[in-house]
Amino acid sequence: NKGNYEHYMQKEIHEQPESLRTTMRGRLIRGGSCKAKTVLLGGLKDHLKTIRRSRRIVFIGCGTSYNAALAARPILEELSGIPVTMEIASDLLDRQGPIYREDTAVFVSQSGETADTLNALEYALENGALCVGITNTVGSAIARNTHCGVHINAGAEIGVASTKAYTSQIVVMAMLALAIGDDAISSQGRRETIIDGLCELPGKVREVLKLDQEMKDLAKLLIAEQSLLVFGRGYNYATALEGALKVKEVALMHSEGILAGEMKHGPLALVDENLPIVVIATRDACFSKQQSVIQQLHARKGRLIVMCSKGDSASVCVGGSCRVIEVPQVEDCLQPVINVVPLQLLAYHLTVLRGYNVDQPRNLAKSVTTQ
Ligand code: UD1
Ligand code: F6R
Repeated sequence: NKGNYEHYMQKEIHEQPESLRTTMRGRLIRGGSCKAKTVLLGGLKDHLKTIRRSRRIVFIGCGTSYNAALAARPILEELSGIPVTMEIASDLLDRQGPIYREDTAVFVSQSGETADTLNALEYALENGALCVGITNTVGSAIARNTHCGVHINAGAEIGVASTKAYTSQIVVMAMLALAIGDDAISSQGRRETIIDGLCELPGKVREVLKLDQEMKDLAKLLIAEQSLLVFGRGYNYATALEGALKVKEVALMHSEGILAGEMKHGPLALVDENLPIVVIATRDACFSKQQSVIQQLHARKGRLIVMCSKGDSASVCVGGSCRVIEVPQVEDCLQPVINVVPLQLLAYHLTVLRGYNVDQPRNLAKSVTTQ
């Protein structure tokens, strides 16, 4: 049921304030001051000790689910102090990469049925790792075959392009980081700030959704382009990859997410006055580095669309020559949840304007059950 929306993708983008609320329901525990100060993930509470003792946490997934894990990696590293590595499920299997008994392997999958991810799960089980699932589908193969896990509870996702599952996956993995780091006194203040940030997140997502018309206008400008680059780094490297994935899979436009730190090692050669480039430059520890990236792209006459925190237009837009997308600022590790929304909206509007099928892009299936 699409309700008042024309497409499932549109509905699922706009229901993110609600889906995020459902994801967090019952999992943020309120302290005396009526503020949530700790997290409770029912599916993991008996396994946290084992996870804390593991030598490595390895995230395994495909597509958007992989990108969500990449977005959560920095906060998991920070709060757990455990090395976190990333594996695309098919690549882990192609290499038969090492997985050990001392590893915690986290399988991220909206459907819980993706063949590559399931095969990687079977492989990790054989190698004796603790296997944790993060899935949206109760009773799915990944939910059944992992030792423990967390349901993201985002509600059924129908559009082939994953949108609300992505933001709920990031929130669950941020809560996973909070739960694993729960015993460290030194980071208690940081954890409480993040929990406050989680409580406010649905409202901030509602705010960023107001950019809908602005993204439609931007899509009109980009309708006939061949390609779109998206630059990000740090917490928002994943946002760049995910924004580009949305644009290519539904709008059928070539798009590439680029780690801004790699700019000088190749991508800079592509920059000219024609190729549109989105640069994500919201406030966090990487902000000044992103400012310098913008200056260098600008010096090569790049066609820039800069995403920045509210009120920062003047500090990111050199000489006032670029287009700016201002988004509400939230805690750094939660910013990817906000920043992906305008890119989801952009991909949606580009698709509709270009006349393609939004909910069923050609050649793709919602659940990829073959290798
Ligand atoms: C559970 C109930 C929820 C209830 C809540 C009340 C279910 C599915 N969930 O939610 O309805 O409101 O208690 O306390 O009945 N699991 C895996 N692999 C996965 C995902 C989950 O093994 O990929 C396991 C978990 O370890 C857990 C169970 O499935 O044993 C349910 O997980 P989850 O729904 O996340 O647990 P709760 O949030 O506690
Ligand atoms: C992109 C998309 C795919 C899936 C991928 C994994 O919008 O939907 O990239 O993310 O096929 O699917 P799940 O999460 O079901 O394992």
